[in-house]
Amino acid sequence: MNAPDVKAPEFSDLRAYLEQQEKKSLLRFLTCGSVDDGKSTLIGRLLYDSMLIFDDHLAALAKDSKKHGTTGEDIDLALLVDGLEAERQQGITIDVAYRFFATDKRKFIVADTPGHEQYTRNMATGASNSELAVILIDARKGVLTQTRRHAYIVSLLGIKHVVLAVNKIDLVEFSQNVFDKIVADFKKFAAKLSFEELVPIPMSARYGDNVISNSEKTPWYKGPSLISHLETVDVEADLASQPFRMPVQWVNRPNLDFRGFTGTIVGGTVKPGDTLAVAKSGRTSKVTRIVTYDGDRQEAVAGEAITICLADEVDISRGDVLAGADARPQVTDQFAAHILWMAEEELLPHRQYLIKTGAQTVPAQITQLKHKVDVNTLEHAAGRTLQLNEVGYCNVSTSVPIAFDPYAENRDMGAFIIIDRFTNGTVGAGMIDFGLRRATNVHWQAMDVNAEARAAQLGQKPAVLWFTGLSGSGKSTIANLVEKRLFALGHHTYSLDGDNVRHGLNRDLGFTDADRVENIRRVAETSKLFVDAGLIVLVSFISPFRSERRLARELLKQDEFVEIFVDTPLEVCESRDPKGLYKRARAGEIKNFTGIDSPYERPENPELTLKTESTNLEELAESVVQHLRAQGRIP
Ligand code: ADX
Repeated sequence: MNAPDVKAPEFSDLRAYLEQQEKKSLLRFLTCGSVDDGKSTLIGRLLYDSMLIFDDHLAALAKDSKKHGTTGEDIDLALLVDGLEAERQQGITIDVAYRFFATDKRKFIVADTPGHEQYTRNMATGASNSELAVILIDARKGVLTQTRRHAYIVSLLGIKHVVLAVNKIDLVEFSQNVFDKIVADFKKFAAKLSFEELVPIPMSARYGDNVISNSEKTPWYKGPSLISHLETVDVEADLASQPFRMPVQWVNRPNLDFRGFTGTIVGGTVKPGDTLAVAKSGRTSKVTRIVTYDGDRQEAVAGEAITICLADEVDISRGDVLAGADARPQVTDQFAAHILWMAEEELLPHRQYLIKTGAQTVPAQITQLKHKVDVNTLEHAAGRTLQLNEVGYCNVSTSVPIAFDPYAENRDMGAFIIIDRFTNGTVGAGMIDFGLRRATNVHWQAMDVNAEARAAQLGQKPAVLWFTGLSGSGKSTIANLVEKRLFALGHHTYSLDGDNVRHGLNRDLGFTDADRVENIRRVAETSKLFVDAGLIVLVSFISPFRSERRLARELLKQDEFVEIFVDTPLEVCESRDPKGLYKRARAGEIKNFTGIDSPYERPENPELTLKTESTNLEELAESVVQHLRAQGRIP
């Protein structure tokens, strides 16, 4: 076996070395397999045999090197690791190790994703910009459930090039029969997936057979060794020939004479003189300059970080996408997408999350989970939520339109991550399939009799008094007292109460987290309609989740929403037990009971907190009326 002809650099030679490396193409690939498939051994061998064990050094260097915007020294290195850094900023790389190595023909970044139960998350992270996947199989075990999962996710993430590494071939006496059978099994399953190229290689990572060079022990194998395939596989295909796309990361305006738009090109090519369009507004202008750290350029292609100057003063901000004027991305606020769920907490349809695609971050909700995909069999199943590592096909609705291309056309323009609004953690990743055209014949009707007119006629400022707290905390009782007082003062009110609304509008909903989210969403929308009608609305729902209380608040104008926390301790509610429900919940007769086996998230900043054990209810009701008065909502 010959080691490849590579030069291991002294650290002092790093710059010169990287300069030389710069000229070579870079292949990013992903390895997937379980612990025993020999994945670590394979990666170790690639690194060892290419004599460049670089991993953590590279990460450490990257951290120390200055950010974009500096000139000189650190740029080459930054260019090598920028993709990694972007992922790191999304906070989802925790379990993925990236390792760098190079041969004379190419340089490589391999994403090593552990194969334990978090595989979906790790693979999605590792695959986010990999162009090829090496799927490992233990020759003794053949195609396992796990292999199918890996293959499905690799295909879902849009990786077109796959190497099927049939490892430990030495342990099956280098048998061609065993190899052929495994390859046939895998191909049967992979036929349903969308790989462009599948290269099976019999291999012994341990002894190096067919890793770097072809092994004499498998004379029947006529294909390439792993390294020679990795060195020559053509993956750069067509990014540069695609329509031009650049998400604007920031608007660079150091002084009045210069205004440039900075970002990384994710598709196509750009030259001075090209006409570009701002995807969302449709405004167009011509490129006057393309500025980089190394000076102006006459052309830039996908993968490069540049600053574009335009001929006209066009309104462009961070998050906009610059696109070729003749081939623009779609703009929509509704789309269908595959979603990989990555959080312990389940996905809840209708909850507001943030989604981030390119440089755009917008509030969004999953409006419909059309089906889940069984990643082992590819079968579709019905479901109401997604659990950790599950894949679902969903409709997504964003609060403002986004610019995108289908993931199949452009992975950068069609991928998004889902962020929890409270923890800021990444909880999912998605791939947009296509935009859904909202019925264009549904428009907002501008009514002549509007909210202000109605409120003025009623002589009051409408508001929502949102009572939240445990079952039995006293929400409905206090709301009732408040309503009586307001009514006596001549105000126009309406009351929405959990127990009552659940008999009508929400009779189809139970008490799972998903149903509670929908329960509160509907009530929030309904209370907004009553506010529009000019009324003071009293809402008494447990409303246990911060997310949906926030949603209710955000539907209204500031000051219109008054969150009232009826803060009665669980023990007190339980001892009151007005409907005997706590007793039944403790006996296990009622499931998902708030405070017992379903959570209550205390309000963080309620306008009012009412303590029912220490103060009498009439006084508490009066304090609510006082609050409205102090706010100027009632005289
Ligand atoms: S919420 O969580 O979705 O806001 P909501 O206020 O509509 O709940 O309904 C709560 C009322 O339903 C309680 O006051 C109680 O009477 C009844 N109930 C029945 N089962 C449950 C349960 N599992 N958890 C909480 N409340 C329940």
